[in-house]
Amino acid sequence: MRFSSTLIAAAALLSSAEAAYKGFNYGAFFGNNQAKVYNDFRYEFEAAKALPGTNGQFTSARLYTMIQHGTTKDVITAIQAAIDTNTQLLLGIWTSAGQTIVDNEISALKTAITKFGTKFTNLVVGISVGSEDLYRITPTAIANGEKNPGVQPAQLVKYINQVRTAIKGTGLASKPIGHVDTWTAYVNASNSAVVSALDFLGVDAYPYWETQHANSIGNANATFYDAYKQTVKAGKGKPVWVTETGWPVSGPKQNQAVASKANARIYWEDVSCSLIKGNVNLFYYTLQDIQYTTPSPSFGIKPGGDLKAVSPNFDLSCPKVSYTAPFLLSSLLSPLLLLLMYNLFIVSWVVHAMLSALSTEEPLLALPSHSPQPVAPSNWIARANGM
Ligand SMILES: *[C@@H]1O[C@H](CO)[C@@H](O)[C@H](O)[C@H]1NC(C)=O
Ligand SMILES: *[C@@H]1O[C@H](CO)[C@@H](O)[C@H](O)[C@H]1NC(C)=O
Repeated sequence: MRFSSTLIAAAALLSSAEAAYKGFNYGAFFGNNQAKVYNDFRYEFEAAKALPGTNGQFTSARLYTMIQHGTTKDVITAIQAAIDTNTQLLLGIWTSAGQTIVDNEISALKTAITKFGTKFTNLVVGISVGSEDLYRITPTAIANGEKNPGVQPAQLVKYINQVRTAIKGTGLASKPIGHVDTWTAYVNASNSAVVSALDFLGVDAYPYWETQHANSIGNANATFYDAYKQTVKAGKGKPVWVTETGWPVSGPKQNQAVASKANARIYWEDVSCSLIKGNVNLFYYTLQDIQYTTPSPSFGIKPGGDLKAVSPNFDLSCPKVSYTAPFLLSSLLSPLLLLLMYNLFIVSWVVHAMLSALSTEEPLLALPSHSPQPVAPSNWIARANGM
């Protein structure tokens, strides 16, 4: 039927035009320093896609390193897991530990390109060279007890150029290169050479930690958007991706910021939902952080326990766009407008229905008998052991 195929085409166009990346941050190891292996990453990526209330939208993963934890330069097993679960990747190159480690990161990146080819490169949405390294060298970070050395801006520019050279002529050549840092790093004029070297700016913003400001949950949305807008300004037209943000579900009070599930829900509804609506790339922090440790504060959407079995700590749905309000309002205005609104309503309803039908997730590949593990007394099991 021509009508419906046109609609499908329109819906497909609409969905590709609307494809901002939505995902989480995935560390390379658990809280006890145990390396995550293929099954762990795969389990996490599948759990993210199956989160209730999110329509399967969280299909992207930000990594901090290309290196499998505990090895010198083996490719991180998250890559194979991403390929097998069709998860988009914001790659990370760790730059807070010197040139030798960066060399190893680049070596692993090249190995992944050679080993996996387009199966890998087609999933890559960007490469972040570094993560909060400029923040780490500031007096604020050092006063906050930061122990990682970070990196000077001139050296970071060198690393960025090394990665650019490494991907030249490969399947990653056209992928944007960015860096992740705090808004304070981007507005700092001493770091302007870094901004100039980037294709996009990744910003990590946590109103909870903004203890110098009025940082209650009531101000959190405004505080977040202030950081975001400062970064946009510093970027001088370059895209800004939200690479980390979140509100803790538990932990100590920071100035006026109270960590609680209820406040995390408010933060999600205000900040995450508005970013999703505004089509901004978003990597929330985080899916689950109670994994063989008890972090305080804890930012996990999911509590401790078997990641797929436990329910989220708070509702992850976003407010629905209302069609009735403008529709009713229009009837007060003019009959013609009423007709127009009515037609728009029908079309958007049909497109929405088509989109939901199209986005129906394929059944997850069957994994070798995974049965939910009983939650250990310590409440720390993050995955199905023995998978
Ligand atoms: C500004 O950036 C420079 C270079 O990264 C850094 O040394 C300095 O501490 C930063 N200043 C502040 C106030 O953060
Ligand atoms: C959050 O801030 C943004 C940017 O200023 C604004 O558009 C949005 O309406 C705010 N949301 C809430 C719930 O205050």
